[in-house]
Amino acid sequence: MNAEEAQALLWATLQPCAPPCPHCGGLGVVTLAVPYDHELFGRSFKCVCQRHKALEHTISQALQGAAESIPNQSHLFDWHDFDHLPHTRAAVTAARAMAQGCERPGLIIWGSTGTGKTTVALIAMRYMAAAGQSVAWVDYTDLIKRVQSTYDRDRHTGPSEDEILAALVKADLLVIDDMGSAASDRPASENRVEIMFRIINGRYASSGRTIITTNLTPDHLRRQFGDRIYSRLAGMSDLAKCDGKDLRQ
Ligand SMILES: Nc1ncnc2c1ncn2[C@@H]1O[C@H](COP(=O)(O)OP(=O)(O)OP(=O)(O)O)[C@@H](O)[C@H]1O
Ligand SMILES: [Mg+2]
Ligand SMILES: [Zn+2]
Repeated sequence: MNAEEAQALLWATLQPCAPPCPHCGGLGVVTLAVPYDHELFGRSFKCVCQRHKALEHTISQALQGAAESIPNQSHLFDWHDFDHLPHTRAAVTAARAMAQGCERPGLIIWGSTGTGKTTVALIAMRYMAAAGQSVAWVDYTDLIKRVQSTYDRDRHTGPSEDEILAALVKADLLVIDDMGSAASDRPASENRVEIMFRIINGRYASSGRTIITTNLTPDHLRRQFGDRIYSRLAGMSDLAKCDGKDLRQ
């Protein structure tokens, strides 16, 4: 076993915990329990509590900071802020279950504008980050633009399409915000479908958690992105409608 394999094994074995980290006592590094004549004896490895930072660093490099421009004042809200909003209950219950580690890897929160979909997804993301999971957030339109900007090989600098998509597939939780174009009733372009297919298929194959928010109905989502994407999404996800009044008004 080389050092890289040992690091991967360590991260796969140790359970991430909320701070203070019981594995390293907050130092961020651990050593392996191997005999003193072992080549990895005395060598330090990154503790599992550093794993999300390492992954998030990869993701933020791939997206060049986009994931840091998280919208609205979601940090001001918590689950209890939705207690008096009956039409968001299904979404809150499902997102809460995901943050607590339920079996189902995916969640599609759909519904009309301003009903709290993004906020609910971001609360779940905050709790998962606090529990030591690597989390990533992308806005759908921004993601498509970023990926498409890599096609201009003469002018593009920075991560390639492959690097961006690979980073998104790796996160423990990926939030894809505002998926689809509500204004359009036509199928998405072949290129958009291909980009989304690579992400959704990657997430489907890994056991990572994925939350999608959208203004489209499930049926509209299926028409826009096609069966290849929709069947994977529906196969791995709970669907929760988020309805009620527009909280922006
Ligand atoms: N529980 C809440 N109580 C009061 N205001 C809230 C609550 N949750 C969210 N908001 C506010 O309501 C606004 C809309 O919330 P949010 O962006 O989550 O809605 P959305 O469903 O994602 O909207 P869209 O479909 O347009 O993306 C935001 O400005 C947010 O700060
Ligand atoms: Mg939103
Ligand atoms: Zn640790």
